[in-house]
Amino acid sequence: MSGPSTYQPQHPALKWLETRLPILGLVHSSFIVFPNPRNLNYFWTFGGILAFMLVAQIATGVVLAMHYTPHVTLAFNSVEGIMRDVNSGWMLRYLHANGASMFFIAVYIHIFRGLYYGSYKAPREVLWILGMIIFLLMMATGFMGYVLPWGQMSFWGATVITNLFGAIPLVGQTIVTWLWGGFSVDNPTLNRFFALHYLLPFIIAGVVVLHIWALHIPGSNNPTGVSVKEKQDTLPFHPYFTVKDALGLVVFLIFYCYFVFYVPNYLGHADNYIEANPLVTPAHIVPEWYFLPFYAILRSIPDKLLGVIAMFGAIAVLFVVPWLDTSKVRSANFRPLYRQFFWIWAVAAVGLGYIGAMPPEGGYLIVGRILTVYYFAHFLIILPLLGLFEKPRPLPASITEAVLGGGAPVTAGAPSGPQTK
Ligand code: HEM
Repeated sequence: MSGPSTYQPQHPALKWLETRLPILGLVHSSFIVFPNPRNLNYFWTFGGILAFMLVAQIATGVVLAMHYTPHVTLAFNSVEGIMRDVNSGWMLRYLHANGASMFFIAVYIHIFRGLYYGSYKAPREVLWILGMIIFLLMMATGFMGYVLPWGQMSFWGATVITNLFGAIPLVGQTIVTWLWGGFSVDNPTLNRFFALHYLLPFIIAGVVVLHIWALHIPGSNNPTGVSVKEKQDTLPFHPYFTVKDALGLVVFLIFYCYFVFYVPNYLGHADNYIEANPLVTPAHIVPEWYFLPFYAILRSIPDKLLGVIAMFGAIAVLFVVPWLDTSKVRSANFRPLYRQFFWIWAVAAVGLGYIGAMPPEGGYLIVGRILTVYYFAHFLIILPLLGLFEKPRPLPASITEAVLGGGAPVTAGAPSGPQTK
């Protein structure tokens, strides 16, 4: 992943392995000596946090699957059985359900960090696109996972979202029937969603390997956006960033545990404790919180097909953001106008989330429409124009200069000197 390894195993057994499969050298060059910019802040700990959460979701999910039954007559009760009869089953389930929310909180912070510091720009476009593929796969996994407990929101959420494909001209209804495996959301739908919900996290894991590979070619961006120029701009991954990542992870886990052990149903919906009933529609069908901004965009457009196009378009623009942003400067820290527009966009995106949870009527609808227009204007109009008209602030000559403020240079591997900036 990061060039020829300097790793020299001492133990004969390790030497034997290394000459046949140089996997320890790969780990050593990628996660021990790998040079990282010395000025990374705590926003750079979220990649590691995400990797941890992916493993945690797979581990809890595999054990849950041992006690879950993917059949419409048994699914709801099997989940209740996990909560009541399986040893620590309640904890496994709450860890997994809240873990999904934590995974999305972390991924949104990770994406916003990338947008703020311009981490999507050359030479990191492929890394960014792989990230967006992971994001899409995460959304598919989260959506299908929510159907499995077969509560009222599971059933009606699945019905609303799968029906969206019906808006596609000519073949729409055929696609919906094909997705359902029948003529409504029913047992075949539940069964295939379970199969795919189990499969997709492993595909995500595979794309994460590519993501980290693509990261290790140029190396990490950093808060200044200035590329690494000299050896003293970097520090080895271990111990500097392993320790920093560990601290970020522990704080994140405290936050996660607060939800699991004190308010485990806060992020869920009460209606999902009622078994699915195709004859009773809930008063408001709302998806999980992490889909709400996209749901708001969907509902703010009166035409079904255009709404679906806008919703998918909201994700599609993120894929091409490296080419929409015309500025040569990466970090918003040195782009006075972009910095302000970034925050306005961030508020608009969170505002869309709020609107997505409200009924689509009156003032909510109007605000939703304004925010939807602004969301797209940010990417399609503001970003391309800003790069042409904005006057960036002068960039530091190097990362070391930004950290030490022109003070005495220090050698790589030594503890940081005085930090004047
Ligand atoms: C399972 C989900 C993901 C995992 C495990 C993951 C993992 C990582 C790791 C370990 C890093 C290096 C540490 C860091 O910069 O935080 C990283 C960097 C990065 N990731 Fe992700 N990532 C995930 C999802 C995403 C998504 C959805 C995007 C959005 C497009 C994304 C975009 C990026 C970018 C642009 C960088 C480089 C940041 C920089 O160098 O400034 N990642 N990722």
